[in-house]
Amino acid sequence: MTEIASKAGLIARFCAHINRGPEKLEEALAAVSDDSLRTMLEQAYQEASRPTRFLSDRYTSPSPAFEQGYHLLSKILDADVIDPIEFFRNRLRVPDPAAMTFIMMRRYWQTQGACEYDDEGQLTHFDYDPDNITEHTVSVITGDYISFSRIARYGYSMAGIGQLVTRTGEQWRGQGHGTALVRAFEAECEKMAQARGEQMKTYLVESEGDAQRFWAKMGYRWVVNSRYYQPPIDWDYETGERRFDEVPELLMIKVVGQPDSQSIDSQLLRDTVRATYLDWYIPIKASPIAREKIEAYVFDKLYADFEDSIENYGDTVPLSLPPKYQG
Ligand SMILES: CC(C)(COP(=O)(O)OP(=O)(O)OC[C@H]1O[C@@H](n2cnc3c(N)ncnc32)[C@H](O)[C@@H]1OP(=O)(O)O)[C@@H](O)C(=O)NCCC(=O)NCCS
Repeated sequence: MTEIASKAGLIARFCAHINRGPEKLEEALAAVSDDSLRTMLEQAYQEASRPTRFLSDRYTSPSPAFEQGYHLLSKILDADVIDPIEFFRNRLRVPDPAAMTFIMMRRYWQTQGACEYDDEGQLTHFDYDPDNITEHTVSVITGDYISFSRIARYGYSMAGIGQLVTRTGEQWRGQGHGTALVRAFEAECEKMAQARGEQMKTYLVESEGDAQRFWAKMGYRWVVNSRYYQPPIDWDYETGERRFDEVPELLMIKVVGQPDSQSIDSQLLRDTVRATYLDWYIPIKASPIAREKIEAYVFDKLYADFEDSIENYGDTVPLSLPPKYQG
């Protein structure tokens, strides 16, 4: 038997033992007579069962890695809050990647071989094959870089965060992956702003439920007493009739350079919401007549209502922890 063949045989024996259960580790190690190979396999197994090395990057095309990330989003979020995969694919198919304002990023780990995990995060199949690196997504974030040039305030920009998920299972949640990915997202926005000669001013998230505590930890703050609606997300593009009603959401903002800030300049806040409404909620495919009607609904009704709710504050609007988490 050649040395390579015997090495492959020892790896196969190790995998066969360990895949009968983690309690078989001693047996699996005993089956490998080569000391250095045994050490390497043990390290690879420990790293695969409790990964410690994670990487983050941005999807720049509808690659297999993107498909895996979308799969994670769709497993965790309800179907009504996530757009179909084709919508995401189209947003990643931009002729000039430098002009792409859609940001979708992943945090992931790699295994040397086709390891598999269950929904609780447990390693269910260990494989060792350095020629076959497998990538596993732990968290995904989506959002948009939005230039204020859209509302004729040149030189400034913001970003809106759409979705963020971390794999279920205690091995993954609460381990800092969401935090790391939000930081990577914000760093990406700073990079994009620099490349465009703009200055990032704010981050916005429309928040609901438990995740508000997470956003509060990330320095995002509630715009006190604001009335904020997510405008209808589906319209008849010919008539401009809405197919859904607006949905009340809790508006959370992070002021760049001032996380946890207790107030925000009123004009900056207005610009942030106006730019978000324009970028996210006015469909470009609508006919001119429909678009006029949609803009009237979004700006004359919903945005005007938001302005009313902060009008009494004057030049600075207070920010605070979300109502649920005060005190
Ligand atoms: C929100 C979410 C992405 C956080 O991911 P994560 O990787 O667990 O986040 P982190 O480990 O970085 O958490 C940072 C802190 O926030 C807390 N936190 C995270 N998620 C929380 C939640 N849902 N409720 C309350 N606190 C939460 C963590 O306990 C941690 O606190 P600590 O610093 O005191 O330990 C994850 O809970 C998730 O996927 N939720 C379902 C989808 C969702 O609600 N997404 C957000 C809106 S689209």
